[in-house]
Amino acid sequence: MSLSHGRRDANHHRQPNRPPLRRAHPERRDRRYRSPENHGYPVEELAERSSFLEVAYLLIHGELPDPTQHGQWVDAITHHTLLHENIKKLIDGFHHDAHPMGILVGTVGALSTFYPDAKDIFNEASRRLQILRLIAKMPTLAAFAARHAVGMPYAYPDNDLSYAGNFLNMMWKATELKYEPNPVLERALDVLLILHADHEQNCSTNVMRAVGSAHADPFSATAAAAAALYGPLHGGANEQVLRMLKEIGSVSRVSEYVKRVRSGELRLMGFGHRVYKNYDPRAQIIKKVADDVLAVTGRSPLLDIALELERVALADDYFIKHRLYPNVDFYSGIIYSAIGFPVEMFPVLFAIGRTPGWLAQWQEGLLDPEQKIARSTRGRRSVTCPGSEAPTLTLPQRGREESRQ
Ligand code: CMC
Repeated sequence: MSLSHGRRDANHHRQPNRPPLRRAHPERRDRRYRSPENHGYPVEELAERSSFLEVAYLLIHGELPDPTQHGQWVDAITHHTLLHENIKKLIDGFHHDAHPMGILVGTVGALSTFYPDAKDIFNEASRRLQILRLIAKMPTLAAFAARHAVGMPYAYPDNDLSYAGNFLNMMWKATELKYEPNPVLERALDVLLILHADHEQNCSTNVMRAVGSAHADPFSATAAAAAALYGPLHGGANEQVLRMLKEIGSVSRVSEYVKRVRSGELRLMGFGHRVYKNYDPRAQIIKKVADDVLAVTGRSPLLDIALELERVALADDYFIKHRLYPNVDFYSGIIYSAIGFPVEMFPVLFAIGRTPGWLAQWQEGLLDPEQKIARSTRGRRSVTCPGSEAPTLTLPQRGREESRQ
């Protein structure tokens, strides 16, 4: 993990000076931000002109904050970033090479035991407190998990920094008295968090709603959602993209790799989406962020492979027929890697970004008078099979049955 990061000139919580954001016309539905109530702001505008904490507020409250609300919201989140010291002992118990996503899943679930008041899910004030705690503490858990892997002492939150800037501080602060994040990298991270903040009824969001429907506390539900996100078909995809680009190794081997995908031997990671069948608007924003970041960190050979892969795939019959386009994860891994994050941290970064979306969906489900406890409509296996005529044999009886066959 690199420790050499650029400096920034001023530390502040920024409320960008900007004209008001407007909701998109309903006909531009596929380009709108996918929040629980479909709040309708184009994702491009949010990425360009708002901050991650503003978007988090939008998801939780259904509207962007005014300056007073924004100040209170940022202040409240900033003052919940510390963890109980015992969480450090818990992290210390993980093996030195434990995957940080495994540590995150374990520790965010463990937070439920530190905050028993979180069980009071139908109390509005309690829900708000847990939401603040979760959005605030996810980056601290994530950074501590990353530092555990490299044996670095944990760096505590710095309340003078922005949400993204503080995360960079907790990741990379070494012996300096004050860590000053590079503003381009800080902004790039903030944009990536915005792009990951919420996205319809995807796998982890479904899990959040399902666990929430059993009235579990939000820390437990978030741990379950993060576990779903860990899967390589979901939040694990950006990690897989980087591994894939490294496996391809050079621009000259791209065509050969695409042939293997066409033959059905492999899936092209970072391509395809359950919802976007024309293009993923988030991928276009990310491409621009990649340019900004690489201008600071230096060009990555992986970007050249990715650009060639995109070019070859988009011209290929298989990808055209299956309507497969780069998704949000195709370039996000390159950016994270250029900033200095190890690949194991990629799904963790996704989880930090997705937390406000999960919480908004959890709360929406809880307050929905028609919500019932979730059940799958597809699974058929059952131990207590209703209507089954078969008698239950004891273990020795089953042995005799088998020897007769
Ligand atoms: N590479 C090659 N073929 C693919 C790919 C791919 N990435 N994605 C789908 N296909 C093919 C698939 O083989 C199938 O072909 P056929 O009909 O001939 O059997 C067809 O396209 C439909 O596949 P599917 O799995 O039914 O499609 P889906 O819309 O349910 O899957 C997906 C969406 C994201 C799981 C899938 O496209 C995929 O596995 N992509 C790679 C993993 C990835 O990048 N995931 C990140 C998704 S974006 C992050 C997020 O929002 O969670």
